[in-house]
Amino acid sequence: MATALCPGSFDPVTNGHLDIIERTSRYFDEVIVAVIRNPQKSEALFTLEERQEMLREVTAHLDNVSVGSFKGLLVEFAKEHRADAIVKGLRAVSDFDYELQMAQMNQNLTGIDTFFISTNPKYSFLASSLVREVARFGGDVSSMVPAVVMKRLVERFGEPRS
Ligand code: PNS
Repeated sequence: MATALCPGSFDPVTNGHLDIIERTSRYFDEVIVAVIRNPQKSEALFTLEERQEMLREVTAHLDNVSVGSFKGLLVEFAKEHRADAIVKGLRAVSDFDYELQMAQMNQNLTGIDTFFISTNPKYSFLASSLVREVARFGGDVSSMVPAVVMKRLVERFGEPRS
């Protein structure tokens, strides 16, 4: 049994995240989506509970995927859940420096390896921070997030203007 972690802030989950989670679920027996409790980013939009609820709804069709949360070090969560690997999506070269540094730090801390999956090019511009900003100012992000996320964004900010 091989277990993978897909970690992140997921504020909110985007179609790009979902694509990575779906593809990871094909290669591992079990996948745990690990949601960080307090994202470093100052302007969190959704609470931990909301972020987890949305993730559970959008991954309901994937039998081997569950959703958990952590605070502190990701490698501690990985040890507690006997995870074998961390899986991350890489959108562009600009992601690579920081992701490589984190992968090497995590490997150094407990020996856990990180696998990278290339993001589908149709999602390579997508980031939760941009989705939050565009939605906040009335832009239409309906093609970028799952329908359940769009519904919550409309509840927060109203129907998109564009
Ligand atoms: O979606 P994000 O915000 O890009 O996710 C980043 C996240 C949560 C995966 C990363 O910040 C993380 O793993 N934080 C946990 C703290 C930790 O373990 N730090 C050491 C990693 S080198």
